[in-house]
Amino acid sequence: MSIEDEIRSKRTTSTKWMKYPQDVIPAWIADMDLGIAPVIAQELTERIENGDLGYPCAEVEARFIDAFSDRYIERFNTPLDPALGLASTDVVQSIFIAITTLTDPGDGVIVQTPIYPPFLQSVNDTGRILRENPLVRSDDTWEINLEELELLASEARTTLLLLCSPHNPTGRVFTQTELVKIAEICDKHNVLVVADEIHCDIVYEPSYHIPFASISPEFAANVITMTSATKSFNIAGLRCSIVHFGSAELKSRYEAVDSHLRGSISTPSMLAATAAWTKGDSWLKSTLATLKANRDAITSFVEQGCFGLRYIPPQGTYLAWLDFRDTKAAESPQEFLLDKARVALSPGPDFGTPGVGWARLNFATKPEILGEILNRIKRALA
Ligand SMILES: Cc1ncc(COP(=O)(O)O)c(C=O)c1O
Repeated sequence: MSIEDEIRSKRTTSTKWMKYPQDVIPAWIADMDLGIAPVIAQELTERIENGDLGYPCAEVEARFIDAFSDRYIERFNTPLDPALGLASTDVVQSIFIAITTLTDPGDGVIVQTPIYPPFLQSVNDTGRILRENPLVRSDDTWEINLEELELLASEARTTLLLLCSPHNPTGRVFTQTELVKIAEICDKHNVLVVADEIHCDIVYEPSYHIPFASISPEFAANVITMTSATKSFNIAGLRCSIVHFGSAELKSRYEAVDSHLRGSISTPSMLAATAAWTKGDSWLKSTLATLKANRDAITSFVEQGCFGLRYIPPQGTYLAWLDFRDTKAAESPQEFLLDKARVALSPGPDFGTPGVGWARLNFATKPEILGEILNRIKRALA
């Protein structure tokens, strides 16, 4: 049995492996093919063996929020008051709730395109106005256009910036200098910041993640931090995340959406996230080494020449944002590669207009599978 078939035979409930026909290797949605931390498996197995799956108790949620808060101090040197945290089902739901409770219809919301598609949907579907601040590609990195950001922030009715940090799909890990400038601009123009930091653990040295809430004590009250253990620890199917508010006032505005509409968070998911954050770091460390080696393999592959394919190695995330504009797949890389290479990437245009001619490759897989994906892409582009 090939490794792909082996994974597929085990992962019969994950959309990553179930969406496309058997002969297609999936490299799209951000799930990993690298298993889960034994501490998570142990936690969940114990609950099942003990028949311990009753309604959640408050202590489970409190321990989960404390684990988040402790982690932000230990890993990122950022104290975040657990009393201002709230467990939530998923980050995308929290983004939608934040937009509907913290802004008004017709308000402008800034996003930095190309961007994780639900950012665009959350603005468009709630009747807010999309204010795009495209990242600018230089030779070896992606930069924020700060002049344009300031112009957008200064426009009447711009009230929120949806910051993706680290950034999906480019893999940029923003520096202190960049984050300080963003905070200064948002402070000057009274723009709140929702910082989606779901990729905060997947960062490759020498880059390091800096929580936006740590950037400026004066501005921290205007920051809503969202994250979860689901990306770093490969448990997205459990559905569990956290929202942290810079002030009690923001939290109570968000809580205007009734808790029954927000939904309650499953006990196994909170226990799994708590185990991950408190006991999962040795697994994370070895997984990061695999991800870094995969990232470097893509870099060598592109450097050796692949019929016009270009990319800038990501500083974080396990996503490679591939530029097919000078290849024969330029018109629609995702469709071309699905058809000719039997590899499923994420379509670039889903990430906004700057994504036309691009596609996103999820490289969180076994090195052998990544090798096969790259070979297939090369053969198709030849
Ligand atoms: C930046 C970003 N935010 C949110 C999510 C999804 O989070 P959730 O499953 O908690 O909605 C993803 C998933 O890839 C992501 O990349």
